[in-house]
Amino acid sequence: MDNFFIHETAIVDAGATIGSGTKIWHFCHVMATAVIGENCILGQNVFVGSDVRLGNQVKVQNNVSLYSGVECEDDVFLGPSMVFTNVFNPRSAVNRKEEFRKTVVRKGATIGANATIVCGTTLGRYCFVGAGAVVTRDVPDYALVVGNPARQTGWMSEAGEKLTFGRRQIAQCPLSGETYQLVNGQVSKLSGREPEEA
Ligand SMILES: CC(C)(COP(=O)(O)OP(=O)(O)OC[C@H]1O[C@@H](n2cnc3c(N)ncnc32)[C@H](O)[C@@H]1OP(=O)(O)O)[C@@H](O)C(=O)NCCC(=O)NCCS
Repeated sequence: MDNFFIHETAIVDAGATIGSGTKIWHFCHVMATAVIGENCILGQNVFVGSDVRLGNQVKVQNNVSLYSGVECEDDVFLGPSMVFTNVFNPRSAVNRKEEFRKTVVRKGATIGANATIVCGTTLGRYCFVGAGAVVTRDVPDYALVVGNPARQTGWMSEAGEKLTFGRRQIAQCPLSGETYQLVNGQVSKLSGREPEEA
């Protein structure tokens, strides 16, 4: 028995893989070779193209199109009306279907409302893209980026709280209490394991 929910106005093409607990709401379209994990939510008017892969517990807000070449790992949040791309230099009269550039969104990343992600980029684990940003380059793990073009303005915890690194380059998430370390421009979570070599 199917243990996912598909609203009666959504179209899920035969062959698509939908994980248990996933909910697909009004007016969505999922293509045949898409793979959607468990406990995902696709809000209203979401398109999931051929070969797109979504991990588990991915939340896709209203009006988001995931084109071929996009991959989202577990726990990714895609804000309302954010935009992916898959052709870097499109021309109507030039067929570039063989030239899709991949976009990879790593585990736990958040993309804010109305942000645009230029294809060929990787958004790091738990990074946070502010509302309306235009991402043109890879985003480091835990980085907060805003603006057009997107520039890094800080770091965010896994709980979505700003991280302030002190003199020892250690920061604590005010919500979870978990600690993080900044070494050579890279953030890693310390809680539960020994600090890595600096
Ligand atoms: C980025 C965000 C998390 C706030 O980050 P923050 O660093 O705590 O932001 P602050 O409010 O302290 O503002 C710091 C500076 O960044 C600017 N800023 C904040 N968000 C920005 C954004 N999305 N784009 C451009 N600039 C932004 C502020 O204007 C401020 O600039 P200033 O120092 O010149 O005055 C938040 O603004 C945001 O974009 N959240 C996403 C909301 C969303 O899309 N939700 C989707 C589901 S509803």
